[in-house]
Amino acid sequence: MGSRQSAILERALMISLSTGCQPVRIPQQKIYNNMGKRKRTDGGGATALFKTKAGVIAATLGSAVGLGSIWRFPAEAQQNGGGAFLLIYLGCVLILGIPVMLAETSLGRAGRADAVGSYMKLAPGSRWWLAGGLGVLASYLIISFYMVVAGWTLQYLWDSITGALFAGADGESARLIEQTFHHKMESYIGSDIAPLISTYAMIVLNIGVLMMGVQKGIERASNIMMPLLFVLLLLFCIYALTLPGASEGLVYFFRPDFSRITWGVAANALGQTFFSLSLGIGVLITYASYYPSDTNLTRTATTVSGLTTLVAVMMGMIIFPTVFSFNLDIDQLRGTTLVFVTLPEVFSQMPGGRVWSILFFTLLLVAALTSTISLSEVSILFVQKRFKRSRLSATLIMMCPLFLLSALCSLSFGSLADLKIFGLTIFNFLDTFATNWILPICALCVVIFVGWFIPKGTFRREVTNDGRVATRLYPVVNFIVRWIAPVLILVILFSSILK
Ligand code: PFF
Repeated sequence: MGSRQSAILERALMISLSTGCQPVRIPQQKIYNNMGKRKRTDGGGATALFKTKAGVIAATLGSAVGLGSIWRFPAEAQQNGGGAFLLIYLGCVLILGIPVMLAETSLGRAGRADAVGSYMKLAPGSRWWLAGGLGVLASYLIISFYMVVAGWTLQYLWDSITGALFAGADGESARLIEQTFHHKMESYIGSDIAPLISTYAMIVLNIGVLMMGVQKGIERASNIMMPLLFVLLLLFCIYALTLPGASEGLVYFFRPDFSRITWGVAANALGQTFFSLSLGIGVLITYASYYPSDTNLTRTATTVSGLTTLVAVMMGMIIFPTVFSFNLDIDQLRGTTLVFVTLPEVFSQMPGGRVWSILFFTLLLVAALTSTISLSEVSILFVQKRFKRSRLSATLIMMCPLFLLSALCSLSFGSLADLKIFGLTIFNFLDTFATNWILPICALCVVIFVGWFIPKGTFRREVTNDGRVATRLYPVVNFIVRWIAPVLILVILFSSILK
């Protein structure tokens, strides 16, 4: 028997196992069609598919747009040459982000399972499922510390509503005001109980949405939250751009300082692309397994990447003009201080600042929530499918340990600050390990698998919806996934090693 025939028989056997029928010889094309049309149910018995095209975009965009675009991007741009970083980032999204997103969503929709199951279905009998397992691990580690920062935004929103955020911040000089907010942030995140409570509140919020399932939970929440996020962003943009001296900030953000471009800056832009588009760690495999068969993957990938980039650019157009207009120290933008010190300082000096502060932390909370939901969904679907659990029990099984893991991350700013792993606090260790190491390794596996090992024709069929969607860009995308993406991902990985 030729290798092609045996591969066909193997797949027929695989389908027979999952449907409980005797193996039959079916042409490969037909198997594929059957796989696409089969009614899929999750562990709880409900059909797990997104209902509408808007829901597909909103959920995927909700995953992508998070703290990465809203908070990390402006800080990265400031540290890495302003407009030059923006240009490289745009290039990375176009050349790498969209093709890798296409590869990962193709893998997810063709596999129609959790991250591990999708590899198992498409490469039965191989060890590729380990790549999916690594993705589940990475997503879980990322939620554990992401949830803590998401919790801080919840607390800052609450403090904006009650006015506690601005209490005592009416000193004479800008320096004093800044110190007040610095002190507030440090004493808040360094205290054990308060950040723990907000982290727990965030976990409970996630459980609330996730328990309701794919359509009624994730899709519905994203459909409400994403438009809200864009309306808020637009309001901020209009405000920031009409501030006196806004143009100086715009020049700073958009004018490329090519002298600051180094390999390190390019690697940072690549890393930012992966993190901000939620690439590599199984989130897109998981979400794409919920995409209806007629979802146009290319359109989805370009829309999501385009809108995520738009959010990042809008954030730059908000932050830089504001910082210049309020004569703040541009070098203060890095790290936690941008969101938790610099912006509250601005709000305290703005007319109607408290309302703006409420709106901003709502924006950040919405962005963080839709991202934590997507990260959690990776392991929830994994437990549902692999261990045949209901939606509710899978949600509880995976979310409850976070009460401990996220607590450790949160306490690592307080009483566990001296507990170090390889010289890093628990929070920083998990951040570095998951984001800089496992994420690029998983992404490398995705592109190598889809580029070289996925059953022949699968990638093309997914991208073209079985020939129903134009294929003009497919050869370019395929070339990038096979050759360019692996090399560039290795660059990210080596730059992490060198750091
Ligand atoms: N894209 C999210 C952000 O920019 O904040 C973070 C994220 C979500 C990263 C999901 C990775 C992921 F799989």
